[in-house]
Amino acid sequence: MAKLRTRYVCQECGSTQPKWMGRCPDCGEWNTLVETLVEATSSGAVVQRSAQAVIGRSVPQPLTEIAADNYRRTMLPMDEFNRVLGGGLVPGSLILIGGDPGIGKSTLLLQISAALAAEGHVLYISGEESAQQVKLRADRLQISSDRLFILSETNMTAIMDHLRQTPPQFLVVDSIQTVFLEELQSAPGSVSQVRECAGRFQGLAKGQNIPVFLIGHVTKTGTIAGPRVLEHLVDTVLYLEGERFHAYRLLRSVKNRFGATNEIGIFEMGDVGLSEVPNPSEIFLAERLPNASGSAIAVTLEGTRPLLVEIQALASTTSFGNPRRTANGIDMNRLLLLIAVLTKRVGVRLADQDVFVNVIGGLQINEPASDLAVAAALASSFKSRPVAADLAIVGEVGLSGELRAVSHIETRLKEAAKLGFKRCLLPASVQLKQSQFLSLELLKVRSLGEALDIALV
Ligand code: TYD
Ligand code: MG
Repeated sequence: MAKLRTRYVCQECGSTQPKWMGRCPDCGEWNTLVETLVEATSSGAVVQRSAQAVIGRSVPQPLTEIAADNYRRTMLPMDEFNRVLGGGLVPGSLILIGGDPGIGKSTLLLQISAALAAEGHVLYISGEESAQQVKLRADRLQISSDRLFILSETNMTAIMDHLRQTPPQFLVVDSIQTVFLEELQSAPGSVSQVRECAGRFQGLAKGQNIPVFLIGHVTKTGTIAGPRVLEHLVDTVLYLEGERFHAYRLLRSVKNRFGATNEIGIFEMGDVGLSEVPNPSEIFLAERLPNASGSAIAVTLEGTRPLLVEIQALASTTSFGNPRRTANGIDMNRLLLLIAVLTKRVGVRLADQDVFVNVIGGLQINEPASDLAVAAALASSFKSRPVAADLAIVGEVGLSGELRAVSHIETRLKEAAKLGFKRCLLPASVQLKQSQFLSLELLKVRSLGEALDIALV
């Protein structure tokens, strides 16, 4: 029988040490040794397998003869969640749900567990809260099911025993940082513990074909292993994002073996937990003041879904030497670039201005297609001239002030038309297959200067 041993493996050069050291003696890097489980045979010798023994274990198959296993996905009564999973829950998939503490991971997973209990036996392992605490939360969420089982346990051996005795059809582990293997000396939450425990759950998911959800906290310091170390191991990585003091929560897929990445689901945290937001654009635009300066509407794409969001900007003369730049919801470097292009190419002189940019709804926009809307909002605030209220804006801004084409333009235009926008500003270079969007007037422009002339009233 193979014995479990631990070794310390340098994460930089891969050398193995019997003891922990602060500095790797081979490559000289500090703090790179991580405790790792190794399996050794009782004699300690490497087992030599003959070629004969290897052949016959696995056989190469022609691609054309492999039966395509059409996953029978479980559809949850939550469309936003199904969407993020790529169209329902795949049997045997290992799903990691990461997010800051307090963002609502336990709440979401308890709601999902209750929904899954309609399909079969669900086991919710809570390492962070006692069964009573989970019960209190369930009462608050008005959840009750006799097929939903709560286990408050952190020891992997005990967990595995339970799983062997009564295998569930769905498993939730809250959180992967609290469970531990006794064989490892390092504390729960360390890289090796998290990786090894997740490996066991992966074996279970694949071996028994049950979907397993792992909850993981994102941590900024390296001391506790965050979900990052697990990303390669799991099938799907979802992040629950949002600001604590805002009600909206975004569930974003950053990796998905069974669907598109960057797909988002939008939820609202309320008194009875998270509820779906099926029409997010309407909500993001609800509080907009139509003729205020410094506001523009961008048509962004999150995964496959177009979203209209309001971008607000404020430029005000700085009273200190160094002007401040604050970016909320867009990348800071992108903002600095747009400020430079506005100053240099179109004479919107922001060098002595404090600049604040905010994306409404707590959304984080990562695609450059919203550049033009950010630039328009900035110019609008600087010149105290509002952006036309019926105008939606799409386009990437280049360093020469030229506008560049963006992807999936038709999807974006449809959403803008659906929400009642009359005109859309877009780069002249976009290729439109469908030449007309009946209710939407398309204003094609080549440069940032031209765009601002049209946008500002
Ligand atoms: P929680 O799911 O415990 O977060 P996590 O597991 O990610 O650490 O939820 C945290 C917050 O959600 C908490 O501050 C209270 C709030 N909340 C509500 O607003 N409504 C509710 O119905 C519930 C259960 C929680
Ligand atoms: Mg929690």
